[in-house]
Amino acid sequence: MPREIPPEQRDSYVLRLYDQLLEIEQRLIPTGLHVFGRVQSHRDLAALLRAVASFDRPEMGVRSLPGLVAEGLGYPDYRLLLRESANSEECTRQREHVEDLVRQSVRLFLDGGCDAGPPAALLAQGAGVPVTDSRAIFSFLAGLVDGLSRNQEVESLVAALRGDYVPPGPGADVVQNPEILPTGRNTYAVNPYAIPSFGACRKSETIVSSMLQRYLSERGRCPETIGMVLWGMDNIKTQGEGVAQALLLMGAEPRRDSLNRVTGTDVIPLERLGRPRIDVVMTVSGIFRDLFGTSIEVLDGAVRSAAALDEPLEMNFIRKHVLQRQGAGASFADAATRLFSNAAGNYGTNVNFMVSDSQWERADELGDLFITRKCFAYGRGLEGSASRELMEQALSRVELTYQNVDSTEVGITDVDHYFEYLGGMTRAVESQSGRRPQVYLSDSLAAAPRIRALDEVVRLETRTKTLNPKWYEGMLEHGYRGVAEIEHHVSNTFGWSATTGAVDEWVYQEIADRYLLDTAMLERLRSMNPHSTRGLAARLIEAQGRGFWKPANEVMDRLFEVVGALEDEIEREGTGGGP
Ligand code: BEZ
Ligand code: MG
Repeated sequence: MPREIPPEQRDSYVLRLYDQLLEIEQRLIPTGLHVFGRVQSHRDLAALLRAVASFDRPEMGVRSLPGLVAEGLGYPDYRLLLRESANSEECTRQREHVEDLVRQSVRLFLDGGCDAGPPAALLAQGAGVPVTDSRAIFSFLAGLVDGLSRNQEVESLVAALRGDYVPPGPGADVVQNPEILPTGRNTYAVNPYAIPSFGACRKSETIVSSMLQRYLSERGRCPETIGMVLWGMDNIKTQGEGVAQALLLMGAEPRRDSLNRVTGTDVIPLERLGRPRIDVVMTVSGIFRDLFGTSIEVLDGAVRSAAALDEPLEMNFIRKHVLQRQGAGASFADAATRLFSNAAGNYGTNVNFMVSDSQWERADELGDLFITRKCFAYGRGLEGSASRELMEQALSRVELTYQNVDSTEVGITDVDHYFEYLGGMTRAVESQSGRRPQVYLSDSLAAAPRIRALDEVVRLETRTKTLNPKWYEGMLEHGYRGVAEIEHHVSNTFGWSATTGAVDEWVYQEIADRYLLDTAMLERLRSMNPHSTRGLAARLIEAQGRGFWKPANEVMDRLFEVVGALEDEIEREGTGGGP
């Protein structure tokens, strides 16, 4: 951001800034860990209810609360208000009016013991929302509050150990699918033949067009090749959003039989597609490979069908690249290989372990490890044949790496898996192509799904979680484990620096300020978990050593002092760790 903003741009700058503040303010923040068998306390139940209420759920006969309010007030569609609020003051005003009414009504609902009457009356009066519509959504929310108040996890576990029947229930994110409540049921996943669902395909249209639009605005053209990460759990939770996005990028749509099973794909004609077919290189997790054998064959079939189409090369990048490889002597099968995973029976990239154990000197070692672990080809009946050269070839063309993110609870700094996969792939692309690709993530759980660049997501997660008192105070209530979670966040953030360089220096500085240079906070962390506190300080020192930030000398001196004191303490106590 420029320091000096020309006067004529000031208003739009402030509006964009305000939009970002709204986004940070409204993001759902997990406040603490789940304790098995215990009802989750929801410090901010109202925020959770607002998030759940922000989606149309036609299958349950409810409409989105902000959608109803915007409609009642005669405003444009709420999703449009969200999309346009960074560009238009009028939209920001309308959006805030809608959100204010939604907030008031949810508050009234909770204060009144989950009675749908008062909030429905408020919205009828204040926004002309038909009472039948608002009653439907508030009754639905009452069911959700009831589900949240019950927990049969211990009873179910004991029943399962006895060999008794445990009633089944779906597994997903509560915002995505409130039917997961009450917890403690025998979680079932998904029918892999139904992947991708109609809903996932519908949603992929918005995400894919935003992704291509964003790349176009940044690079002035369509990306020819996208590197995509596909995970098993995520495609279960979203009924195959990732699969749907990959197919749509290639200009393919699922073909279904009379039982709705996806048996293959049909080509979307270029006239309807309105853009080139994008080449997609897919790295799938071991779990995805094990669960979604059918989807792997469907995706592979889509690549091969597209490669065989007689279309202009500038409108079909899959064909263009396959022909190039064939021209260099490759077989069609090799030239069209796009799905890579671990060797059969193997899981993970190990990039996370290499980073957390500081076992690397140059960043290209991380990309190299990623390829070593993931270079086994699948599709066309292959059961994972070692194909390092094919993967290197495919990655060398990638201009954009991407992963669909479907939960705010588990984000890119909560676990080390996002940086091991998306970060590892990005680093491998950089080694193979000699360029750092653009890196995007989607926020598919937002009321208006959107695409963000990796550095934006790192900033957002840093602001809303790692440096947010609401998040870390929730964690610190868990004592030893909570400090470990904070340390993991810092290590995972570091993992993004290691693989992609997408972390601003202020992130490390503010982490140091917040947790280690503040003596009261340092004392709290140390008293609960000296091991993780030492790890946190050591990671910041490592970040400096690797050039990820350049703190003042006094800061480094202090960090060394903290690490030294903690090491002495740990040695004196002679504890191997643990609470
Ligand atoms: C998966 O669901 O595929 C997955 C889960 C954890 C880490 C990586 C992948
Ligand atoms: Mg996930």
